[in-house]
Amino acid sequence: MMPSYLAPAHEIVARCRQLAVHTEEPGFVTRTFLSEPMRCVHTDVRAWMEQAGMSVRIDGAGNIRGYYAGTIEDGPRLMIGSHLDTVPRAGAFDGILGVVLGIGLVGLLNGRRLPFPIEIVGFSEEEGVRFGMPFIGSRAVIGEIDDAILGRLDANGLSVADAIRAYGLDPASLGQAVATERTLGYLEFHIEQGPVLESLNLPLGLVSAIAGQSRLEVRFHGHANHAGTTPMHLRRDALAGAAEWIGAVEREAIATTGLVATVGRIEARPGAGNVVAASAVMSLDVRHTDDDVRSKAVTRLLSCATQIAARRGLTSTSESQLNQPAVAMDENLTERLARALANSGYREHRMASGAGHDAMIMAKRMPAAMLFLRSPGGISHHPDESVLPEDVAAALATGFNFLEQWERHG
Ligand code: GLV
Ligand code: MN
Ligand code: MN
Repeated sequence: MMPSYLAPAHEIVARCRQLAVHTEEPGFVTRTFLSEPMRCVHTDVRAWMEQAGMSVRIDGAGNIRGYYAGTIEDGPRLMIGSHLDTVPRAGAFDGILGVVLGIGLVGLLNGRRLPFPIEIVGFSEEEGVRFGMPFIGSRAVIGEIDDAILGRLDANGLSVADAIRAYGLDPASLGQAVATERTLGYLEFHIEQGPVLESLNLPLGLVSAIAGQSRLEVRFHGHANHAGTTPMHLRRDALAGAAEWIGAVEREAIATTGLVATVGRIEARPGAGNVVAASAVMSLDVRHTDDDVRSKAVTRLLSCATQIAARRGLTSTSESQLNQPAVAMDENLTERLARALANSGYREHRMASGAGHDAMIMAKRMPAAMLFLRSPGGISHHPDESVLPEDVAAALATGFNFLEQWERHG
């Protein structure tokens, strides 16, 4: 490993850990869309961007944007980014690393101007935690925030528009968040969040495509009653119906090659130990690289919910929150990245991403490519999530070579 990348890599890891202290939940890393701790994240990120020679703004969706001018005034820019929000009780690197690493890359230029400007974006929202809808930040950058999104409510009844205003921003200025047409492409560095690179003993991987995702809310409705006096055969227990269905979701995913399906959240009402549950509300997350396989699986799972409900005297309803097709990364941009990887002495491995990324949204408007960094233990969406400084150094070397190739050869 070239020693000159190792010191900045250590600083990048330290910066990610520094941002992790800005949390809604003391002792954990929890930071949802435009929550108060995001202000402190913005303060730190702004300082690092300015130190690297960028001018900084926060757009109407709360994305922080650092602009590093090139030699050609206002020429087409290269965007580099990822997200700054987290899942509840997250680690320090999912999303954050891509933003901090991008800033580190610009820092390595040490004031040198390239023939193209670079814009680093820290997206305000990717995980979909607060409003049950992911990618609010990147959707704003491609101009896809509509009134339906602005009107979505969080658990406290606040809308996306309210959240934007509460942060001191103006939803009317969302137009200024939209990326200029003259963009060379979008590059995202991200931890793999799975065990593949580690099992291959590789620090880096090239993303070929990102799996499509369906996210839904599924509800079972029954009738509340006394847990002591209501015989089993006279119950309409929404939670027992939900439990049966969750088992069916798992079986369906196991039986379908490449399918992953998850019920990650459940809420039973009224939610007392001595009351038969009147309702159970669940999340459903279904992913596959083949959109047809995914949508057929969703149809089967919903009809299974209807059958279970009917047999138990319940009703079931569902609401689709996301139907995001699988997205291929741009071949040309990925090829540039592959050359930079080889020039930096790393073996190439191409892989699909099971996790969603801002790159899948940005790819609708511009060439997008992604570089994965090995995830120790394959762990992510967990406080133990980590990254090796040596792998960050490998990503910096690759990223720097990528920039230099473009500088030299266009
Ligand atoms: C984002 O982290 C996802 O759920 O894929
Ligand atoms: Mn995530
Ligand atoms: Mn992420």
